[in-house]
This record gives sequence, C-alpha cells and structure tokens, in this order.
Amino acid sequence: MLVKNGNESNLWAGLAKSLAIVFIPFIFRLVCHENFSRRTEKMKKKTTSKKTRQTKKTPSLGLLLKKEVVKLGQQIGDLLPLEAQDIVAAIKQDHDSLRNYLGILKDTEKDMTERRRAYKAFAALLKSHSVSEEKAVYRPTADLAGREMHIKVAEGYVEHHVADDLMARIERTKDPMTWSAHANVLSENIEHHLKEEERDLLPLIRKTASAKKNMDMLAQFLFLRGQSQKKVTAKNAGVLKSVRG
Ligand SMILES: [Fe+2]
Ligand SMILES: [Fe+2]
Repeated sequence: MLVKNGNESNLWAGLAKSLAIVFIPFIFRLVCHENFSRRTEKMKKKTTSKKTRQTKKTPSLGLLLKKEVVKLGQQIGDLLPLEAQDIVAAIKQDHDSLRNYLGILKDTEKDMTERRRAYKAFAALLKSHSVSEEKAVYRPTADLAGREMHIKVAEGYVEHHVADDLMARIERTKDPMTWSAHANVLSENIEHHLKEEERDLLPLIRKTASAKKNMDMLAQFLFLRGQSQKKVTAKNAGVLKSVRG
C-alpha cells in the first residue's frame, strides 16, 4: 500500500513537473509579448503625435501661398470703393466706360479724325477687358454648376471673337466708308454684348460663385486689367479708375 502510495505521489510529481516545463515558458512568452506590444503601441502613439506636431508646426508651401493669395484678395477688396468690391461691379465699371464711346463710333455725322481717336481709346479698353474677362471670369465658371451660365459664357466667347475680328478689319482698312461700316457694326455688337452680359450672365455668376471664388475672380481680373491696358485715360479707365485712384 505504501509502495503504491509512493508510486502515485511520484506520478503526480512527474505530471506537475511536465506541466511546469510546458506552461512556464509559454506564460513567460505571453507576458513578454504583452509587454512588447504595449511598448510598441506606446512608441507608435509617440511617433504619430510627434509627426502631427511637426505637421502643425510646418504647413506646406502650397497652403501658405493659398493663404497669402486669399489675404491679398481681401486686402484688394478692402482698398476698393464700394462699387468695385465684387467681380460683377468691377465688370460693370468697365462696361460703363465702353458705353462712353458707342455713340461716337456709329455717328456718321462726326468728323473721321475724332471717330478714329475715339476708336483707339475704346479698342484699348475693349481688348484689355475681353482678355481679362475671359481669363479671370469666363474660364473659372467651368468649375461652377449651371447649364444656363455655361451657355451664356459660350455665347460670350463667340461675341468676343466677332468683336476681335471686326477690330482687326477696322485697323486694316484705310477706306473711310469701310471703316465706318465696321465701326457701326462693332458698336451695335458691343451694345448688345454688354446688355446680355449684365442681364443674363453676371447675375448668374454672382448667384453661383462663393464669396471666395468671387474674390479670386476680382483679384485676377484687376491684375490682368492693370497689366493689359496700355493707354489709360480718365474716359477709358473703367475699373482701373478705382484701382489707380
Ligand atoms: Fe464684359
Ligand atoms: Fe464680354
């Protein structure tokens, strides 16, 4: 019986030893793994927050430039008198100056020298206005939603193109009769174009464009107008009157 008991206790002791051999390394590995995972997680968090801090500290060059452009647009807007503080008002200022010349261009009773002089001042403004309008206003409307607005912009391009063609013909001809006929048609064409832009296109742009988009358009329009009109007088200055004082 004692022998049997002795054998049994040896058996249990052997079993316990075997279990210990199998499980102790397993538990040890488990604990180590847990600690390692925790440490790795901590390190990951540290690196991410460091990266976030670094990103916050050094914004990209593109972001800085964008901020500067928006700030500049706002500063330009603040400097302008109230009537030119949005793109629609600025365009209308140019249109009003263009209208100063429409009567004289189609007045066949007027002296030709006077009409030709008026044409030169008118053409300097019209060319600058159309180029600036296409780049700063027509082109960016492609990003805005609105089928009717896109149709009006497409018509605007065609009317600008017709006006460019008529101006090229006027500048080529020496014959007063041909000059007068083209100047008359140009005057009527522009009268119609300004009216349509103000009645149909500009209200759609004002309604659709965000305040920021409107300001971007205005800043670019003023920049291009200032850059592209060579001969500026009090009568043909348009929106430049507001910018240059
Ligand atoms: Fe216009
Ligand atoms: Fe136009």
